[in-house]
Amino acid sequence: MVDFDAAHCERDGEEREGGARERREQRRREVTLLRALPYEPHQRWWDRLAPCAVAVVTGANRGIGFEAARLLARHGLHVVLTSRDAAKGQDAAARILTEAPDEAGVSLEWRQLDLADSASVEAFAAWAVETHGGIHVLVNNAGVNFNKGADNSVEFAEQVIQTNYYGTKRMIDAMIPLMKPSPYGARIVNVSSRLGRVNGRRNRIGDVSLRDRLLNDDCLSEQLIDEMITKFLEQVKQGTWSSNQWPQMYTDYSISKLAVNAYTRLMGRRLSDRPEGQKIYINCFCPGWVKTAMTGWEGNISAEEGADTGVWLALLPQEPSTNGKFFAERREISF
Ligand SMILES: NC(=O)c1ccc[n+]([C@@H]2O[C@H](COP(=O)([O-])OP(=O)(O)OC[C@H]3O[C@@H](n4cnc5c(N)ncnc54)[C@H](OP(=O)(O)O)[C@@H]3O)[C@@H](O)[C@H]2O)c1
Repeated sequence: MVDFDAAHCERDGEEREGGARERREQRRREVTLLRALPYEPHQRWWDRLAPCAVAVVTGANRGIGFEAARLLARHGLHVVLTSRDAAKGQDAAARILTEAPDEAGVSLEWRQLDLADSASVEAFAAWAVETHGGIHVLVNNAGVNFNKGADNSVEFAEQVIQTNYYGTKRMIDAMIPLMKPSPYGARIVNVSSRLGRVNGRRNRIGDVSLRDRLLNDDCLSEQLIDEMITKFLEQVKQGTWSSNQWPQMYTDYSISKLAVNAYTRLMGRRLSDRPEGQKIYINCFCPGWVKTAMTGWEGNISAEEGADTGVWLALLPQEPSTNGKFFAERREISF
């Protein structure tokens, strides 16, 4: 199994310097301490929303999504745990409810949602408006990666990109109009990966001009992201793609997450001029190398630890500067 964490981080230039591993371990220890601190009443903006703050988590029947749903519910938000498979999702929701102590007052429900299916997303959006009048927090967690270990097959490239990028984008576009106005701002948190960094030293796009355009706010557009994806998928179909031109590790997955990161930046900019009371903050984060089905349970941190930065971003006090950014271990990192 490729070490996601090593692949993401330690092979990146900044992380290759001596002591990088120790610094990361140190940061993990710090975050462990931070996680143990309860939110103070003045920080708990979600408690002040009537009748309740509604948080939606995609792909929450297992892994990082399950933990994000569980933690948000334990913090006191009403959580809509969603999954594409009804039985798996209902079972996950039941587990969270059964395992929570009575005094925790956990409030959570399950709803079907397949983000690769536009009819499912539309039905979910209609239900969210009818049942809750909208939502306050969206955690776009659902994703797929078919490669394991040192494999780098692009056999499922279309599905990976359709799910991870276009599915996430579909949810963002469908949920923005339903995000409830509040003085605290609504939140969108996209679960991404350091594998999708534009300038990872060992895992980046070969075309320097494309890299520059992706990082330049004046050039970044949906069209640019689509062009990059179309070019890659065409080369996959023709059998002409090569790992010199595209990210070298888990190429299809890395491109899908690069697109998620780029769309997060783009939307952060578009949403930044919304008036007070209607603010929406959108950010993405890398959970690290996490013990879940996606890594064959080989990661070096638990799913709960992996969900931490996402939950922290979802609950941050109103912070206009935290918008359109990329995070890991509760800190901003570069795209
Ligand atoms: N694990 C890591 O080290 C790592 C590192 C960086 C980023 N991430 C990201 O973290 C997120 C969660 O991954 P994980 O590690 O928790 O993996 P996981 O255990 O495989 O969970 C993935 C979840 O996504 C769901 N899903 C897949 N396609 C879907 C669709 N079309 N509609 C709705 N749900 C769908 C899966 O549902 P089913 O059970 O029905 O398949 C599952 O609930 C992903 O976005 C992943 O890319 C993970």
